[in-house]
Amino acid sequence: MPEKNIRLEVMQAIEPKVEGFMKEFLIPTEEIWQPTDFLPDSQSDKFFDEVEAIRGEAKELGYDFWVTLVADTITEEALPTYESWLMDVEGIDQHNGKENGWSKWVRAWTAEENRHGDLLNKYLYLSGRVNMREVEITTQHLISDGFDIGTDRDPYKNFVYTSFQELATNISHKRVAKLARQKGNKSLAKMCNIIAGDEMRHHLAYREFVKIILEHDPNNMVLAFADMMKRKIVMPAHFLRESGGSIGLAFEQFSDCAQRLGVYTAQDYIDILQKLNDYWQLGSLQSLSDTAEKARDYLMKLPERLQRISERMKFSEEQHTFKWVTANGML
Ligand SMILES: [Fe+2]
Ligand SMILES: [Fe+2]
Repeated sequence: MPEKNIRLEVMQAIEPKVEGFMKEFLIPTEEIWQPTDFLPDSQSDKFFDEVEAIRGEAKELGYDFWVTLVADTITEEALPTYESWLMDVEGIDQHNGKENGWSKWVRAWTAEENRHGDLLNKYLYLSGRVNMREVEITTQHLISDGFDIGTDRDPYKNFVYTSFQELATNISHKRVAKLARQKGNKSLAKMCNIIAGDEMRHHLAYREFVKIILEHDPNNMVLAFADMMKRKIVMPAHFLRESGGSIGLAFEQFSDCAQRLGVYTAQDYIDILQKLNDYWQLGSLQSLSDTAEKARDYLMKLPERLQRISERMKFSEEQHTFKWVTANGML
């Protein structure tokens, strides 16, 4: 049987459980937080005072911080790319009527994610610290440019990607929250922490999907994981550009900012990989094929190998001036 059909069969075998995953890992729409819970209420007479407070708290945060927050926001705002990509994954069939749990999952996950960009965008707008028009142009570019995360339509590779990526966003939102709090910006810290909480739930769900696939089809799942790590997990905003800039350039410059601030680093990449290796208990998988055995071996040794490489790695200390944020001399 061609490999393709095995994946589809596994997705179909797990599909009846997806309804339960939605209950376990997502929160019903009418119970979950909404962006407005964390923002000034525009119907209230206190609105302008509250906006004033937001602008006051925003004054202490430095240049790299704003660049990082802008790029995080734009990454969240490119959600249409992620939803359309996932909807096209094998086994996630939105044309199969309401019975396909996987497409329901993708829609419900999208609906939760959509609140992240919404909240951060409104915050940036009210903060008065960034050039919103430039931010908007970059967002439009990014959605228009799409992405290529190397997963194809393979559910196994896509769930490795989302397991990895949701934890990466959890870490970076949490760190931004911590930096904001250190500078006395409590309201922004709250916003980023609440978003980080969503990312964690999503991470727990996707890593569970992979764990269950490992029970059904360990050989192909391990091979898919190894394949993703060989090509490296690229960030969803890897095509990020500024107005007039070339595709992907702004992403590299932003990554340097995130490294400098310690918001997302090469060490985090290694730690995430190690956590996934541990949770999926790669070491104790039984009776793998010869090729899967080699792939497992590669994955188990990879964190240490990356550790050695990362110790030699340098990132640029040079501060690029982005069109999104006006230079103010504060790092
Ligand atoms: Fe998000
Ligand atoms: Fe997410």
